[in-house]
Amino acid sequence: MPPTRPENKYEIQLTTYNSKNMQLLDGKKTSEDIKNEIAAEVGAMKAKGEKVPHLAAIIVGNDGASLTYVGSKVKACERVGFESTLIKMPSTTSETELLKKIKQLNQDDNIDGFIVQLPLPEQIDTQKVIMAIDPSKDVDGFHPENFGKMALDMSTFIPATPFGILELLERYGVETKGKHTVVIGRSHIVGRPMSILMGRKGFPGNSTVTLTHSYTKNIAQITTQADIIITALGVPNYLKAEMVKDGAVVIDVGITRVEDKTLEKGYRITGDVDFEMVSKKTSHITPVPGGVGPMTIAMLLKNTLLAREQRRLR
Ligand code: GUN
Repeated sequence: MPPTRPENKYEIQLTTYNSKNMQLLDGKKTSEDIKNEIAAEVGAMKAKGEKVPHLAAIIVGNDGASLTYVGSKVKACERVGFESTLIKMPSTTSETELLKKIKQLNQDDNIDGFIVQLPLPEQIDTQKVIMAIDPSKDVDGFHPENFGKMALDMSTFIPATPFGILELLERYGVETKGKHTVVIGRSHIVGRPMSILMGRKGFPGNSTVTLTHSYTKNIAQITTQADIIITALGVPNYLKAEMVKDGAVVIDVGITRVEDKTLEKGYRITGDVDFEMVSKKTSHITPVPGGVGPMTIAMLLKNTLLAREQRRLR
């Protein structure tokens, strides 16, 4: 009698990664741990009669998602005991007006660090704005001086999203040395810095990095070779199971609002990864929401704490 179960099916079962071993990289919990650590440091600062960190955020215009992100950043400041200032400017704000506001924040001794939420309206040159921020207050790590220092392994502000991903990999003890990391997307905020950081000497790092983008050919051929995939594309459910090898680590940076009329708010947040299918193959994966997003906010707080400490020691 031939076996009822075909031979090759049995083989597939043997080689397919056991999803029960999959480890969720829980950004919500980890970011709470980090915020508790920061809150304890703020408590110690207060006890010593020291000034607490003060973060300011500028938002230009009324983009719903940007307003939500900035609101979460301000709320997180309150949560850890920081001071915060939210500066809302209308969408018609001129470049000159924004540059003037930045100059004020640069000169304000009470402010330790500040961010200008991106994207900006089209009448404003983003590069000019980033260049105008005092590098010692650039807690986003976007100024060329800070970005250059990061690329040269010098101590500086690391952009919050890449910093959050490094922190997750570190806290969960994910091995990166000698691994092939494939980054999808070359944005200045995530993909480009991430590709630099994963290739640096150290942990997390020491990876062999491939940075892919809109002109990359046969991307699935590259992603199926990856031990670690970091996707920052903003295309919902882009990364499918057949693009991922068994046992890979998948980090999903996508946070796109997708219309969902069944929900009261009318949308749901969707990542770049087809989580349901991809998670069956991975060793580690970040969920959306609750993965990289909350880590970004926690690391912005960490950079602000660092900015305060540097000002105190000046
Ligand atoms: N827009 C999307 N992500 C970010 C970020 O990390 N910082 C700023 N300033 N704007 C963003």
